[in-house]
Amino acid sequence: MFSSKKDTNTERKLDMDRIPAHIAIIMDGNGRWAQARHLPRVAGHKQGMQTVKKVAIAASDLGVKVLSLYAFSTENWKRPATEVNYLMQLPIRFFATFVPDLVKHNVGVMVMGDITRLPGGTQQAVKDAIKDTADCDGMILNFALNYGSRDEITRAVRSIATEVQNGQLDSAAITEQTISDHLMSAPLGDLADPDLLIRTSGEERISNFMLWQIGYSELEFMPEHWPDFDGETLKRAIIDFQGRHRRFGGLVNK
Ligand code: FPP
Repeated sequence: MFSSKKDTNTERKLDMDRIPAHIAIIMDGNGRWAQARHLPRVAGHKQGMQTVKKVAIAASDLGVKVLSLYAFSTENWKRPATEVNYLMQLPIRFFATFVPDLVKHNVGVMVMGDITRLPGGTQQAVKDAIKDTADCDGMILNFALNYGSRDEITRAVRSIATEVQNGQLDSAAITEQTISDHLMSAPLGDLADPDLLIRTSGEERISNFMLWQIGYSELEFMPEHWPDFDGETLKRAIIDFQGRHRRFGGLVNK
C-alpha cells in the first residue's frame, strides 16, 4: 500500500497553492527510534524535540496556518515516572531555546489540554511561550499537552449542560457549531478542523486525538519514526494529500 502510494508521489510536485491550512501530527515512534540505536527511550524524545523545531519551521515556511502536535496525552501518565518526568521537562527546554526562532518566523504558540496538572515549571514555560509569541500572527503552533479528546468532549458536554441548566442556552438550539465552540480547539475558529492528520511510525490508529475535529480530515500513516521525520517527509505527506479527492460526504470534488 505504502509503496504504490509513494510511486505516484514521486511523479507529483508540491502545489504551493493547495497547502493544507491545518495539519495535525501524532508524533509516534520516539521509543522505537531510540531502542533501534540501543539508547534509552528518553533519547528518542530528546531527538523528537529537535524534530518538532525542524518541522514547525518547515510547516511555517510552506504556509501552513495551524500545526497541531500531540505531545502528551491524558493516557501518557501511565508510563514510568522517569519517562513522564522527562517528557514534562521537554516543553521547558524546547521553549527556552526556541521561542526567539518562533518569533522570527512569526509563529504563535497555543496549547490544548489541562495544563494545571503539569509541574509548575512546565506550566510557567508554556504560559511564557504563549505570552512571548502573542503578537505573532503567522502559523499557530498548537501543542496538545495533557490532552485527550474524550476528556475534551466530556468537558464540553459538561459546560453546555451547565449553560442549559442556567437558562443561558436552549437545548433545542444546540448545533454542531455549539459543540465545536466548547472544545479546546475553539480559539482556532474556522481552522479548528485539521485538513490532514499524519501519524508517524507505521501505527494506524487515532489514540484519542481530536476525534470531533478530524471527522473529515485526510489521514496519512507514514512509516518513519518521529525523530526521522523532517521537512521533506512533511512535503511528501502534503503531496499525497493533494492527490486525494475531498468530497465531505457529497459528490463534488472540493
Ligand atoms: C510517542 O512516541 C511520543 C510521545 C508520547 C511524546 C512525544 C513528544 C515529543 C516528540 C517531544 C515533544 C516536544 C515538545 C516541545 C513538547 P513513543 O514514545 O510512544 O514511541 P514508541 O511507540 O516507539 O514507544
